[in-house]
Amino acid sequence: MLNAPDRLRDFPSLADRAYLNTAAEGIPSLEVRAALLRYFSDHERGMDGRDAHFDELTAVKLLVGRLYGLTAEEIAVCSCTSEAFNLAALALRLKPGDEVVINDLDFPAGATPWLHPESRATVRLWKSRAGALHVEDLVPLLGPKTRLVSTSLVSFFNGFTIPLRQVVETVRRHSQALLAVDVTQALGRIPLDLDGVDFIVSSTHKWILATHGGGLVGVPKARAADWHVPAGGWFNLHDAFGPNRFDRAESLLGAPGFAVGMPNFPAIYAIRAALDYLLEVGVEAIDLHARPLVLHCLEEVARLPVELLTPRNEDSIAGILAFRHPDAERIYKHLHANSIHVMHHAGRVRVAIHGYNTAEDVERFLRALHEALGAA
Ligand SMILES: Cc1ncc(COP(=O)(O)O)c(C=O)c1O
Repeated sequence: MLNAPDRLRDFPSLADRAYLNTAAEGIPSLEVRAALLRYFSDHERGMDGRDAHFDELTAVKLLVGRLYGLTAEEIAVCSCTSEAFNLAALALRLKPGDEVVINDLDFPAGATPWLHPESRATVRLWKSRAGALHVEDLVPLLGPKTRLVSTSLVSFFNGFTIPLRQVVETVRRHSQALLAVDVTQALGRIPLDLDGVDFIVSSTHKWILATHGGGLVGVPKARAADWHVPAGGWFNLHDAFGPNRFDRAESLLGAPGFAVGMPNFPAIYAIRAALDYLLEVGVEAIDLHARPLVLHCLEEVARLPVELLTPRNEDSIAGILAFRHPDAERIYKHLHANSIHVMHHAGRVRVAIHGYNTAEDVERFLRALHEALGAA
């Protein structure tokens, strides 16, 4: 992944383009393709394939546990981050007067379960300033009524990376709230220290380079009783097929309560292969390779006549940077016509740099961006 021969062998589709859009869709390696074919062969065996399916799930839980700093028993796989947050909202059993803190750099999945008129909690918004979330602005939002603080580790919007250690300490000092952290834009790209987080979730189609269809949930055992999801299903239940099954349903505590039905095995095979791959390359090695590219790109973009949305603070950078420009759509089209893939939405252009990107990808992007702006 980190050098040209490996990159072209494992990600042949990257050969002719500068792919800077992993924050939207990661490019899976050929190992993932092989895993999906293996799933097919196992599934062709019918019920006899199930042991193999469940072996893959066991392996995924171990691998995710390594990345989250948890044990396999503290991990579950559901179908997406949004599903995990909705189940988390059920588990909280919020009452009128309870408060939930969200922030304005967050992806909707972690912010919206509490914004429905039916939700009984009061939502308090932690507002960013100049693209950054400041811990001192969180303090006045916390108190005895705060039940949950929900945030992404790395913002999908501008790549701002929260100072997690400070956030954990602040939430603990000023409230009894649980802290939920969405690591979708971080997992596989930067090394994680999630100690003190009460609920962790990630999607699987971005930086870990797997497929769609996974939500990787982590709940530390010490917090399992706080996350008792009252959902129907069977995989999440104690004794779903026992003699009293039509009298009452009792779900499992903690992470296992987030996997309600038959696991999405195709995704699980892909996730296992993708995580094996990433861990072999090493997330630290990926960050060492990609971080200088992000910092260089940020410095160069900051010189241009665009509105930079990403704060220029090295400590709050992961793999994403973003800027705004009135001609974002034309810029995007120019880049795309030159086989440079970035994200654009509502006047914002977002660049994402992973281990399979190169200095040449960044130079190509900067050259084409100069051209597009020169023509503005
Ligand atoms: C931070 C973050 N969380 C979650 C998601 C996706 O959520 P889901 O898995 O529910 O589609 C995204 C991106 O699309 C994201 O950027």
